Amino acid sequence: MHKVLFCAILFITFLSACTKQEKTYKIAVSQCSQDIWRDKLNTELKIGTYFQDGIELQFASADDSDEKQIEQIRQFIADSIDLLIVAPNQVSTVSPAIDEVFDYGIPVIVFDRKTNSEKFTAIIGADNHEMGRLMGEYIATRLKGQGRVLEIKGLKGSSPAIERHEGFVKALSAYPGITLVASLQGDWTEESAIKAIKEYKGDLTNIDFVFGQNDRMAVGASKALPNPTRAKYCGIDALPGEGNGIACVRDSILDASYIYPTRGDEVLQLAVNILEGKPYKKENPLMGALVTRDNANVLLMQFEEMKRQGEYLDQLHSRADNYLHQLGNQRAITWLALCLVFLLLVLFVVIYRYQLQKARIVDERNKMEREQLDFYTQVSHELRTPLTLIEGPLNQLATTNDIQKASTEATGLLAIVQRNTHQLSEIINKMLDMQVKGKVGDNQTIEKMDVASAPLPDKGSHMDYTVLIVDDNADVRAYLRSILQDQYQINEAADGQQGLALANEIVPDLIVSDVMMPIMNGLEFCHRVKDNTATSHIPVILLTARAMSHHQIEGYESGADAYITKPFSADLLQARISNLLASRIKLKALFTATTNTEESNSQNEKTNEQVVKEDAFLKKFHTFIDNNMTDSDLSVETIGAELGLSRVQLYRKVKALTGLSPVELLRKARLQKAKELIKGTDKTIAEVAYEVGFTAPSYFTKCFKEEFGISPSDL
Ligand code: FRU
Repeated sequence: MHKVLFCAILFITFLSACTKQEKTYKIAVSQCSQDIWRDKLNTELKIGTYFQDGIELQFASADDSDEKQIEQIRQFIADSIDLLIVAPNQVSTVSPAIDEVFDYGIPVIVFDRKTNSEKFTAIIGADNHEMGRLMGEYIATRLKGQGRVLEIKGLKGSSPAIERHEGFVKALSAYPGITLVASLQGDWTEESAIKAIKEYKGDLTNIDFVFGQNDRMAVGASKALPNPTRAKYCGIDALPGEGNGIACVRDSILDASYIYPTRGDEVLQLAVNILEGKPYKKENPLMGALVTRDNANVLLMQFEEMKRQGEYLDQLHSRADNYLHQLGNQRAITWLALCLVFLLLVLFVVIYRYQLQKARIVDERNKMEREQLDFYTQVSHELRTPLTLIEGPLNQLATTNDIQKASTEATGLLAIVQRNTHQLSEIINKMLDMQVKGKVGDNQTIEKMDVASAPLPDKGSHMDYTVLIVDDNADVRAYLRSILQDQYQINEAADGQQGLALANEIVPDLIVSDVMMPIMNGLEFCHRVKDNTATSHIPVILLTARAMSHHQIEGYESGADAYITKPFSADLLQARISNLLASRIKLKALFTATTNTEESNSQNEKTNEQVVKEDAFLKKFHTFIDNNMTDSDLSVETIGAELGLSRVQLYRKVKALTGLSPVELLRKARLQKAKELIKGTDKTIAEVAYEVGFTAPSYFTKCFKEEFGISPSDL
């Protein structure tokens, strides 16, 4: 049972192992601030994960605070991220925290803004120096080399602000007619530009062009300058969407802008390449482009289209997500069902084994019960025999009135009683012994013996009858003889085989036989007696300790005429013998008078069967003598040989069945035939006498007179 459960657990563990997903990478994105440019980037990163399996993104915005960003980066280390994508708020302050991540063994991608350290895995972003230079060139060209220019810078200390300024100043230095009136300090927001202009103490009335380092600050300047319409404005970022850079260019709020690329998809691909050990470049420059009134509309349209497609992609993704979710559920259900089937199988096996075991126990119990029953039958048999041999002789002695006879018998009977009392106490000792040793089933250890009982009734002598006693117990035989010898001639045999030989030889009038005997038991013996023509008519009484009804049925099936169980009363046995012999006498009358079997209806079915059988025998006998009576030499031996019997057997059987000897029957038949011939033919008496097999007509006449009471000549 435990083994089965162990296997079940192993199986389920194996199944769940099979369903385990491939490794998921945790990528952290640390943004310096939150604004539309970064929102766009974050969205692109998310969309990028649709095409990459096993990526989990974690976003954080430092809201322009170095401290907050440092704290967030450290938390990422604690969260065991697999890779960090970072846009540091300011160069020097955030760098050490990023170095920590790198030193920790976590790959780092720096994007958009730089650190002052070399501790990063890759960098991706546009060239801010070049962008500042391009915007300087653009303004100089637009002003045709003459005019006053104002610059508004991004957050102090952030790398794009530094680099854009450097590039811008460098470009303007080539145009002596252009004056950079001031480079005011902003922080990338519109408000910071307004504030910087308001707080500026110098003259800003005649500004021709303003360069905001991003679009938001350029728009802020257009709202804050004292003479705003005189000047033109340009910025960087060129974000799509109403109110943003490109729309401002389209609406002439800005003169130009420069696309500062976000390219979240490329950033994510770089991250995946690093994580999966694929080739990647450390430096990954992104290209931008100038936006003016000429291309603003087209770009906006393109962005709109991209947005739509992005949304469509989003829908597809959420659908796919849904399907995947359903698939996951279905997979879970399938595994559950499989587990259930497996558990049911286990349950089935357990129940099946339990049933088998139960059936085995029931079998064993039945076997034990049978053995017990056999044992008790055997024991009762063993006990009944000595009991009968004690009780019977004692009764016999008690009821014997003839003192002299009693004293002669007493010695023999008391010897039987003594022997059997001893036998009985031995059996009981053995049984107690066996009970102690728990060997109840072994009935071999009990010695086998047999039975008997009552006083000798005086019911008139049948000394003409011969009774054969078959029993392996000498005491029983002696006791039976003592009961029966006054009325019958007794013959004895010690087992079925001997009994059968003797029965064939002497053809007794009745047989009393034990059932349990060595060599040939009583049932077989009885069966063979009834199966043999010479002995089939002999009544058999089975005398036994086997008291169960199925034992009796067995006895009757073997052909027995009576079944008497031990201990029996001598009276009962004698009564049964008398009865059986009497019914033979009735049968005898039947056979002598007529062969019509219908008259035997009063007999029981067993007797009926026997009557039919014996009737057939007699018919055969009569047919043969009828056909052969002319033969004056016809002998009993010839008739016997014809019927398969010896002279003695024929005599005993025919006598038993008809009360007449074969010779008498032959003579009767001859006389009967002669009578018919005398009446129905003209033949002389002498002729008739010879015809029916008489050798002397005078003897014939004498016999005829005896048979019919008249002389043949009187007919
Ligand atoms: C957004 C932003 C952009 C600018 C960039 C520089 O946070 O201020 O407007 O181009 O950052 O890093």
